[in-house]
This record gives sequence, C-alpha cells and structure tokens, in this order.
Amino acid sequence: MIIGGPASQLIAGRVAAILGETLALCDYKTFPDGESYTQVVTPLEDEVAIIQSTPTDQDLVYLLQLLDVCRDRKVSLVIPYFGYARQDKVFKPGEPITARAVATALNPFLKDGKVYLVNIHAPSILSHFQCDAKNLDATSLLAERISSLCLKDPVVISPDKGAMAMAKTAAVHLGAACDYLQKTRLSGTEVSMAPKEIDVRGRDVVIFDDMIATGGTMATAIALLRQQGARKVYLAAVHAVLTSSAILKLYRSGVEAVLATDTLDKGVSAVSVAPLIADALKLAFRK
Ligand code: R5P
Repeated sequence: MIIGGPASQLIAGRVAAILGETLALCDYKTFPDGESYTQVVTPLEDEVAIIQSTPTDQDLVYLLQLLDVCRDRKVSLVIPYFGYARQDKVFKPGEPITARAVATALNPFLKDGKVYLVNIHAPSILSHFQCDAKNLDATSLLAERISSLCLKDPVVISPDKGAMAMAKTAAVHLGAACDYLQKTRLSGTEVSMAPKEIDVRGRDVVIFDDMIATGGTMATAIALLRQQGARKVYLAAVHAVLTSSAILKLYRSGVEAVLATDTLDKGVSAVSVAPLIADALKLAFRK
C-alpha cells in the first residue's frame, strides 16, 4: 500500500500506478489554531510505503503523524525532497545540524524500516538514519529529457563543485563537455560567481544543480554564461523549491527553459522520479 503525504500526492499516485499497489485515501486538514490533522481513511495493509516530501515544517508534522499511524506496520519511507538538507553541518557556533535533528525525530518510527531520499544535498545525512537509508539519483532521468531537446554543441555546467558529480553524470548521458563555476554565497539570498575558463560561445549550456530555492545561484550563473556568449541556457534541477519570485529571476536572467523533477509538485516539474522510486520500492515489497 502507498500512502501519499500532502506534499507528495502526485508522485505517490504515479508510484502506486507503476507498482499496481493500493493508493490509500487520506485526509489532511489544518485546525484553526494551526495544528495539523491527518487520517488514513483506507484500512492499513501490513506493508506500507509512505511518500512525503518535507518542504515546510508542517509537512514534517504530517509525516510524523503518518509514521505514527503506521507504527505497527512494516514501513518504507520515501522523502523525495528532504527539507533542511542544507543545514547539514554547524556553520556558526551555536547552530544545530537540523538535518540530523529531523532524522533523529524520524528514527524511532523506522526501527525495521527503510528510507529513500532523492539527490540528497549532502550524503552525510544518510548516516543520521539508524535504518537502511539510500539516496536515489534522478540525474539520468533529467539528462534523458534534456537530450530530447537536440541541443547545439552542448556544455553541462555545475554552478559549484558540490553539484559536479551530477553534472558529470549528465554530461556522460549527453556526450557533452562539463565544468563548474566558482560560487561565493554573500547572504541567504545573494551569490556571486567568478568566471571560469569555459568556452561557451555559440553553444547551448545546461546548468545542473540539486535544487533551485531562491533562484539566486542559477540567475547569477545564467547571466554569467549569457555574457560569455552562450547561445541558449537551460536549467535542470532535481528539486524545484522555488521560493518567492525565483521563476521571475530566472526568466529575467534569460533562461531558455527550466526543467525539474516532481520531488516537489511545481509547474516546472516535468520529469517524474516515480519510476526511480517504484524500482526501489519493488525490492522493498519483494515484487
Ligand atoms: C547549494 O549548495 C545548493 O546546491 C543550491 O545551489 C542552492 O541551494 C540553490 O539555492 P538558491 O536557489 O537559493 O540560490
């Protein structure tokens, strides 16, 4: 049985359809005081897969409620977009490792369970889970879609060293060259980038990153690459967090198209990671 949390209904539906599993009917509400209410209406089966991204604090509470409902069942937990992944270390004294705090809150529900994340920002986060935790890589799915665009002499660019592994995987799929830009974060919403020796003149460029949040990183990268003479600049990201006016920033910078997966359900989430999740769960359900 597949249980889709409120942030992952579409992807849960897609996974259930691929696997031919029951998709549970659930009810999610917010009380007038802001507290969350969850009910799994369909009677629970022995083995369940809960799919719930946690882009907001409330989504995390819904996930805890779902895990509590399923506490006596064999649970596979899929968190397609794991919030707080960027607070994966102590950057300043007195800060928590919030990614660890979240995993610690989930651990008691997962004693014999399994966890699947998708393109987690920092692989170290997997170690905070006490059960078997796996990272699923959606890069090839994004690259497949990009290859259907028939780009001219394509170059794959990572906006920093952190996303270089993704960019390399994508470049292999596309048979393209690959490089990265040097990024310096000035504040929570601003980044600057030093130009690298990348000859993008007259070529189509695809920037790959794990997520687009404010759009600041990508907007700066697009502008930089356009100044360097790139013909068309495409963005490919796994997680379309897209806060406030991120999309406006990207299109003002001259992006040709933005392509993301459905780990978060947004207008640009054109590539589904449901087949990737279904493959992983197939093993869990022993199908
Ligand atoms: C940071 O290291 C991530 O990989 C992304 O580059 C970053 O989170 C994107 O954030 P924003 O869209 O706010 O620049």
